[in-house]
Amino acid sequence: MTESNKNTKLWGGRFSSPTNLFVEEFTASVKFDQRLALYDIEGSVAHTKMLSAAKIISSKDEDLILSGLQDIRQSIIDNTFQWTIALEDVHMNIEHALISSIGDTGKKLHTGRSRNDQVATDIRLYLRAEVDLLVSQLESLLEVLIDLAEREADTLMPGYTHLQVAQPITFGHHMLAWHEMIVRDVTRLKDSRKRINILPLGSGALAGTTFPIDRKLVAELLDFEGISENSLDAVSDRDFVIEFLSNASLTMMHYSRICEELVLWNSQAYSFILLDDAFCTGSSMMPQKKNPDVPELIRGKTGRVYGSLMGLLTLMKSQPLAYNKDNQEDKEPLFDAVDTLSDCTRALLELIPSLKINKNNMRTAAAKGFITATDLADYLVKQNIPFRDAHEIVGRVVARALEKNCELDQLDEQDFKNISSALTHDIYDVLNMDNALIARGHHGGTAPSAVQDACKRARKRLKNN
Ligand code: ARG
Repeated sequence: MTESNKNTKLWGGRFSSPTNLFVEEFTASVKFDQRLALYDIEGSVAHTKMLSAAKIISSKDEDLILSGLQDIRQSIIDNTFQWTIALEDVHMNIEHALISSIGDTGKKLHTGRSRNDQVATDIRLYLRAEVDLLVSQLESLLEVLIDLAEREADTLMPGYTHLQVAQPITFGHHMLAWHEMIVRDVTRLKDSRKRINILPLGSGALAGTTFPIDRKLVAELLDFEGISENSLDAVSDRDFVIEFLSNASLTMMHYSRICEELVLWNSQAYSFILLDDAFCTGSSMMPQKKNPDVPELIRGKTGRVYGSLMGLLTLMKSQPLAYNKDNQEDKEPLFDAVDTLSDCTRALLELIPSLKINKNNMRTAAAKGFITATDLADYLVKQNIPFRDAHEIVGRVVARALEKNCELDQLDEQDFKNISSALTHDIYDVLNMDNALIARGHHGGTAPSAVQDACKRARKRLKNN
């Protein structure tokens, strides 16, 4: 270190010896928080306009600062801006560049402001923009799922509970189940936006400022819906980050469930779907392998988003008011979660429409495992047999089929008659899988017609949002 803190650090006044070089690196955040640069400038522009409107600085100073900020903005976009660790973070790098470029007037920018309310503002501006992008990405995914559901509205497949064949469903219905998960995710993200969209600037370091600032004007200029109510809370609050990470974790949990099914269905044992080559890779040793890497990786990345959530919850635990340097650790997990969620969404957006659906294999798998046993019980109930008795009778039918090593519809009429006199007519129609589908035509049901109706409702909901 050749220069003293007095010359390099914007806060160097009270220091007599330079910062330890390792400490300088250890405490700096510029390597990662430069991602906030354009939001930092946006906030500074609004702050400058307000300082001038409130007559805290002159309009001449305002013009000079704004044009200086504009030049810095351009150099950041052009990638010619010189970032330096010695200036610690994105805020001081930009402020220092402003002073170097326009001179002493640049020193007025930070009037009535602290990096504490500045960084809280930057993160909110950043996250608001990212949430909007993610919402539109997720809405595209909803559209992809509705398209596929509509296309496969009458494709029969086995529905499972406990991963045991349970009842016949349509592949379209299954796609709409995924769709509902993502619908809730979009609703949550949109709802969280109003808690992100609150202006902390004006809170100063912790106790506000003695200048006659106009916070409403800043909020209007930056499109914030509200102004924070308490300066201590505003500089230290990271609830909105934790809320985002929790929403992102829920979406990743949904993605991991979707991907788990894709991996299972793509396996030789199921062969319900075929993943496109573009989304798989080979093995370095086994020449025959085509591995479902993309869904596996998405499943795996879920852990890292949960990690960010746990990291932030733990970061904020027990912190006394107001701002503490701990808070600088909020950014990397947040950025990583935003990137991960966005990349995983993009991958699914491209992967899902390219799926090949093996209808025959699904039908064959459904035809094993007494899949219409519940329909037979319902049929008995409709003949006034109490459900518990019907359950018992069908249980005996299943036992008989196990004995004969056949499916229910392969039993003779005599087999049925021997078990119950109620099992006489229409039984083979009742045991038919397609009839079982059609019979579930209610709102939320799996019948092809119900799936088509649900797709229409889903499209309408998406359009009206
Ligand atoms: N780089 C800091 C952060 O990300 C900015 C705020 C620093 N404030 C302070 N008083 N040290 O949190």
